[in-house]
Amino acid sequence: MADFKVTRYRIRINHMENKPASPFSVVFLSDLHDVSYGRENERLLQEIRNQEPEAVFIGGDMIVGAKKPRTHAAVALMDELTKRYPVYCANGNHERRMHEQPEKYGEAYEDYSEKIRSFGVHLLENEHEKLQIRRMRFTVWGYELSQEYYGRWGRTALQPEQMKKEIGSPADDSFHILLAHHPAYFDTYAAWGADLVLAGHYHGGMIRLPVVGGLISPQLQLLPPYSRGLFVEKGHRMIVSSGLGSHTIKLRVNNPPELVVIDFL
Ligand SMILES: [Fe+2]
Repeated sequence: MADFKVTRYRIRINHMENKPASPFSVVFLSDLHDVSYGRENERLLQEIRNQEPEAVFIGGDMIVGAKKPRTHAAVALMDELTKRYPVYCANGNHERRMHEQPEKYGEAYEDYSEKIRSFGVHLLENEHEKLQIRRMRFTVWGYELSQEYYGRWGRTALQPEQMKKEIGSPADDSFHILLAHHPAYFDTYAAWGADLVLAGHYHGGMIRLPVVGGLISPQLQLLPPYSRGLFVEKGHRMIVSSGLGSHTIKLRVNNPPELVVIDFL
Protein backbone atom coordinates (compact mmCIF):
# COMPACT_ATOMS: atom_id res chain seq x y z
CA MET A 1 0.00 0.00 0.00
CA ALA A 2 1.37 3.41 -0.96
CA ASP A 3 1.78 5.72 1.97
CA PHE A 4 -1.08 7.90 3.08
CA LYS A 5 -1.17 11.70 3.06
CA VAL A 6 -2.65 14.02 5.66
CA THR A 7 -5.59 16.15 4.53
CA ARG A 8 -6.50 19.05 6.77
CA TYR A 9 -9.81 20.89 7.06
CA ARG A 10 -10.68 23.88 9.23
CA ILE A 11 -14.06 24.36 10.83
CA ARG A 12 -14.53 27.84 12.21
CA ILE A 13 -17.26 27.99 14.85
CA ASN A 14 -19.20 31.24 14.92
CA HIS A 15 -21.78 30.15 17.48
CA MET A 16 -20.91 32.31 20.50
CA GLU A 17 -22.67 29.97 22.96
CA ASN A 18 -20.78 26.88 21.85
CA LYS A 19 -17.27 27.77 20.74
CA PRO A 20 -14.07 25.97 21.73
CA ALA A 21 -12.16 27.77 24.51
CA SER A 22 -9.05 27.28 22.32
CA PRO A 23 -8.44 25.65 18.91
CA PHE A 24 -8.05 21.88 18.79
CA SER A 25 -7.83 19.04 16.26
CA VAL A 26 -9.55 15.72 15.79
CA VAL A 27 -8.71 12.98 13.30
CA PHE A 28 -11.09 11.07 11.07
CA LEU A 29 -10.32 7.56 9.81
CA SER A 30 -12.35 5.66 7.25
CA ASP A 31 -12.14 2.64 4.97
CA LEU A 32 -8.94 1.19 6.39
CA HIS A 33 -10.05 -2.25 5.14
CA ASP A 34 -7.63 -3.87 7.53
CA VAL A 35 -4.55 -2.38 5.86
CA SER A 36 -1.47 -1.83 8.02
CA TYR A 37 1.08 0.96 7.51
CA GLY A 38 4.14 -0.64 9.00
CA ARG A 39 4.00 -3.24 11.71
CA GLU A 40 0.69 -2.97 13.63
CA ASN A 41 0.05 0.32 11.82
CA GLU A 42 2.98 2.04 13.52
CA ARG A 43 3.32 4.70 10.79
CA LEU A 44 -0.36 5.61 10.96
CA LEU A 45 -0.28 5.70 14.76
CA GLN A 46 2.79 7.92 14.74
CA GLU A 47 1.14 10.39 12.37
CA ILE A 48 -2.00 10.45 14.52
CA ARG A 49 0.18 11.14 17.58
CA ASN A 50 1.89 13.96 15.67
CA GLN A 51 -1.49 15.61 15.17
CA GLU A 52 -2.22 15.58 18.94
CA PRO A 53 -5.96 15.05 18.44
CA GLU A 54 -8.52 15.48 21.20
CA ALA A 55 -10.67 12.68 19.73
CA VAL A 56 -10.68 10.09 16.97
CA PHE A 57 -13.73 9.58 14.75
CA ILE A 58 -14.12 6.51 12.59
CA GLY A 59 -16.47 6.27 9.62
CA GLY A 60 -16.67 2.53 9.03
CA ASP A 61 -15.27 -0.12 6.68
CA MET A 62 -12.27 -0.56 8.93
CA ILE A 63 -12.33 -4.29 8.18
CA VAL A 64 -12.95 -6.52 5.18
CA GLY A 65 -16.34 -8.15 5.66
CA ALA A 66 -16.09 -11.62 4.16
CA LYS A 67 -16.71 -15.23 5.14
CA LYS A 68 -13.18 -15.14 6.46
CA PRO A 69 -13.24 -11.54 7.65
CA ARG A 70 -10.01 -9.56 7.92
CA THR A 71 -10.05 -7.58 11.16
CA HIS A 72 -6.63 -7.99 12.77
CA ALA A 73 -5.03 -4.67 11.78
CA ALA A 74 -8.20 -2.67 12.48
CA VAL A 75 -8.64 -4.23 15.92
CA ALA A 76 -4.98 -3.71 16.84
CA LEU A 77 -5.18 -0.08 15.72
CA MET A 78 -8.25 0.59 17.85
CA ASP A 79 -6.61 -1.08 20.83
CA GLU A 80 -3.74 1.42 20.58
CA LEU A 81 -5.94 4.45 19.84
CA THR A 82 -8.17 3.92 22.87
CA LYS A 83 -5.11 4.05 25.15
CA ARG A 84 -4.71 7.73 24.27
CA TYR A 85 -7.91 9.16 22.84
CA PRO A 86 -11.70 8.90 23.04
CA VAL A 87 -12.65 6.92 19.91
CA TYR A 88 -16.12 7.16 18.32
CA CYS A 89 -16.92 4.69 15.57
CA ALA A 90 -19.78 3.96 13.17
CA ASN A 91 -20.10 0.98 10.88
CA GLY A 92 -19.78 0.89 7.09
CA ASN A 93 -21.25 -1.59 4.66
CA HIS A 94 -18.55 -4.19 5.40
CA GLU A 95 -19.36 -4.30 9.12
CA ARG A 96 -23.06 -3.94 8.40
CA ARG A 97 -23.33 -6.99 6.16
CA MET A 98 -21.68 -9.19 8.79
CA HIS A 99 -24.02 -7.67 11.38
CA GLU A 100 -27.13 -8.13 9.24
CA GLN A 101 -26.42 -11.67 8.02
CA PRO A 102 -25.16 -13.87 10.85
CA GLU A 103 -26.47 -16.86 8.87
CA LYS A 104 -23.76 -16.10 6.30
CA TYR A 105 -20.98 -14.62 8.43
CA GLY A 106 -21.50 -16.46 11.71
CA GLU A 107 -20.34 -14.66 14.83
CA ALA A 108 -17.73 -12.53 13.07
CA TYR A 109 -19.50 -9.25 13.78
CA GLU A 110 -20.14 -10.11 17.43
CA ASP A 111 -16.47 -11.03 17.87
CA TYR A 112 -15.27 -7.82 16.24
CA SER A 113 -17.69 -5.46 17.97
CA GLU A 114 -17.19 -7.02 21.40
CA LYS A 115 -13.43 -6.76 21.04
CA ILE A 116 -13.34 -3.08 20.11
CA ARG A 117 -15.95 -2.23 22.75
CA SER A 118 -13.80 -3.96 25.37
CA PHE A 119 -10.99 -1.49 24.54
CA GLY A 120 -13.41 1.40 25.14
CA VAL A 121 -14.36 2.27 21.56
CA HIS A 122 -17.70 4.09 21.52
CA LEU A 123 -19.29 1.97 18.81
CA LEU A 124 -22.42 3.84 17.77
CA GLU A 125 -24.89 1.46 16.12
CA ASN A 126 -27.62 4.00 15.38
CA GLU A 127 -26.87 5.63 18.71
CA HIS A 128 -25.47 8.90 19.94
CA GLU A 129 -23.31 10.16 22.77
CA LYS A 130 -22.40 13.52 24.21
CA LEU A 131 -18.84 14.77 24.20
CA GLN A 132 -17.21 17.97 25.39
CA ILE A 133 -13.86 19.26 24.12
CA ARG A 134 -12.39 22.52 25.39
CA ARG A 135 -15.86 23.61 26.54
CA MET A 136 -17.38 22.95 23.12
CA ARG A 137 -20.37 20.59 23.38
CA PHE A 138 -20.79 17.89 20.76
CA THR A 139 -23.28 15.15 20.10
CA VAL A 140 -21.73 12.33 18.08
CA TRP A 141 -24.18 10.19 16.10
CA GLY A 142 -23.40 6.90 14.40
CA TYR A 143 -25.80 6.12 11.58
CA GLU A 144 -25.76 2.71 10.01
CA LEU A 145 -27.60 2.19 6.73
CA SER A 146 -28.84 -1.27 5.88
CA GLN A 147 -27.43 -3.09 2.89
CA GLU A 148 -30.18 -2.08 0.44
CA TYR A 149 -28.77 1.47 0.45
CA TYR A 150 -25.45 0.24 -0.88
CA GLY A 151 -26.86 -1.30 -4.08
CA ARG A 152 -24.77 -0.90 -7.19
CA TRP A 153 -27.56 0.20 -9.48
CA GLY A 154 -29.64 3.21 -8.56
CA ARG A 155 -30.12 4.73 -5.18
CA THR A 156 -32.70 3.78 -2.60
CA ALA A 157 -34.37 6.97 -1.34
CA LEU A 158 -33.74 8.06 2.22
CA GLN A 159 -35.96 10.64 3.91
CA PRO A 160 -35.03 12.62 7.03
CA GLU A 161 -38.19 11.21 8.70
CA GLN A 162 -36.78 7.73 8.41
CA MET A 163 -33.53 8.83 10.03
CA LYS A 164 -35.54 10.42 12.86
CA LYS A 165 -37.38 7.14 13.38
CA GLU A 166 -34.16 5.16 13.42
CA ILE A 167 -31.89 7.39 15.47
CA GLY A 168 -33.91 10.36 16.79
CA SER A 169 -33.38 14.07 16.10
CA PRO A 170 -30.62 16.54 16.87
CA ALA A 171 -32.73 18.57 19.28
CA ASP A 172 -30.27 20.62 21.37
CA ASP A 173 -27.79 23.35 20.49
CA SER A 174 -24.68 21.17 20.74
CA PHE A 175 -22.60 20.65 17.57
CA HIS A 176 -23.95 17.53 15.88
CA ILE A 177 -21.40 15.29 14.20
CA LEU A 178 -22.95 12.52 12.13
CA LEU A 179 -20.73 9.54 11.34
CA ALA A 180 -22.46 8.17 8.24
CA HIS A 181 -20.42 5.94 5.98
CA HIS A 182 -22.36 6.54 2.75
CA PRO A 183 -21.90 10.12 1.47
CA ALA A 184 -24.56 10.00 -1.28
CA TYR A 185 -27.30 10.97 1.18
CA PHE A 186 -25.84 14.34 2.15
CA ASP A 187 -29.10 16.18 1.31
CA THR A 188 -30.97 13.98 3.77
CA TYR A 189 -28.31 14.23 6.48
CA ALA A 190 -28.38 18.05 6.12
CA ALA A 191 -32.19 18.19 6.25
CA TRP A 192 -32.08 15.94 9.33
CA GLY A 193 -29.87 18.56 11.00
CA ALA A 194 -26.25 17.37 10.97
CA ASP A 195 -23.76 20.22 11.49
CA LEU A 196 -20.91 18.08 10.18
CA VAL A 197 -21.16 14.71 8.40
CA LEU A 198 -18.06 12.51 8.27
CA ALA A 199 -18.26 9.95 5.46
CA GLY A 200 -16.11 7.73 3.25
CA HIS A 201 -17.10 4.66 1.23
CA TYR A 202 -16.18 5.73 -2.33
CA HIS A 203 -12.40 5.51 -1.84
CA GLY A 204 -12.19 8.88 -3.59
CA GLY A 205 -13.61 7.32 -6.76
CA MET A 206 -10.42 5.21 -7.06
CA ILE A 207 -9.17 7.05 -10.18
CA ARG A 208 -9.27 10.83 -9.85
CA LEU A 209 -9.31 13.00 -12.97
CA PRO A 210 -8.94 16.76 -13.23
CA VAL A 211 -12.36 18.53 -13.35
CA VAL A 212 -14.32 15.24 -13.26
CA GLY A 213 -13.12 14.14 -9.81
CA GLY A 214 -13.66 10.53 -8.75
CA LEU A 215 -14.29 8.13 -11.62
CA ILE A 216 -15.63 4.93 -10.13
CA SER A 217 -16.66 3.61 -6.72
CA PRO A 218 -15.52 0.27 -5.27
CA GLN A 219 -19.06 -0.95 -6.14
CA LEU A 220 -18.34 0.06 -9.77
CA GLN A 221 -20.70 3.02 -9.76
CA LEU A 222 -19.51 5.58 -12.32
CA LEU A 223 -18.84 9.17 -11.27
CA PRO A 224 -20.00 8.73 -7.69
CA PRO A 225 -21.24 12.01 -6.19
CA TYR A 226 -19.36 13.40 -3.19
CA SER A 227 -16.40 11.09 -3.74
CA ARG A 228 -13.94 13.12 -1.65
CA GLY A 229 -13.53 16.56 -0.07
CA LEU A 230 -15.58 19.17 1.77
CA PHE A 231 -19.16 19.90 0.75
CA VAL A 232 -21.37 22.64 2.20
CA GLU A 233 -25.11 23.03 1.92
CA LYS A 234 -26.95 25.83 3.73
CA GLY A 235 -24.42 25.83 6.54
CA HIS A 236 -24.34 22.02 6.88
CA ARG A 237 -20.97 20.50 6.09
CA MET A 238 -19.76 17.09 4.98
CA ILE A 239 -16.17 15.88 4.83
CA VAL A 240 -15.66 12.78 2.71
CA SER A 241 -12.43 10.87 3.13
CA SER A 242 -10.91 8.98 0.23
CA GLY A 243 -10.15 6.32 2.85
CA LEU A 244 -7.00 4.67 4.11
CA GLY A 245 -7.14 1.32 2.36
CA SER A 246 -8.66 -0.72 -0.40
CA HIS A 247 -9.75 -4.33 -0.74
CA THR A 248 -11.00 -6.29 -3.78
CA ILE A 249 -10.01 -3.75 -6.44
CA LYS A 250 -6.72 -2.34 -5.22
CA LEU A 251 -6.69 0.65 -7.48
CA ARG A 252 -5.82 4.25 -6.67
CA VAL A 253 -4.68 6.70 -9.34
CA ASN A 254 -4.00 10.33 -8.45
CA ASN A 255 -5.80 9.43 -5.25
CA PRO A 256 -3.55 8.55 -2.31
CA PRO A 257 -5.01 7.07 0.87
CA GLU A 258 -5.63 9.81 3.41
CA LEU A 259 -5.75 10.58 7.08
CA VAL A 260 -8.18 13.43 7.68
CA VAL A 261 -7.42 16.03 10.34
CA ILE A 262 -10.05 18.59 11.29
CA ASP A 263 -9.15 21.75 13.18
CA PHE A 264 -11.92 23.38 15.20
CA LEU A 265 -11.35 27.06 15.89
FE1 LIG B 1 -17.94 1.24 2.13
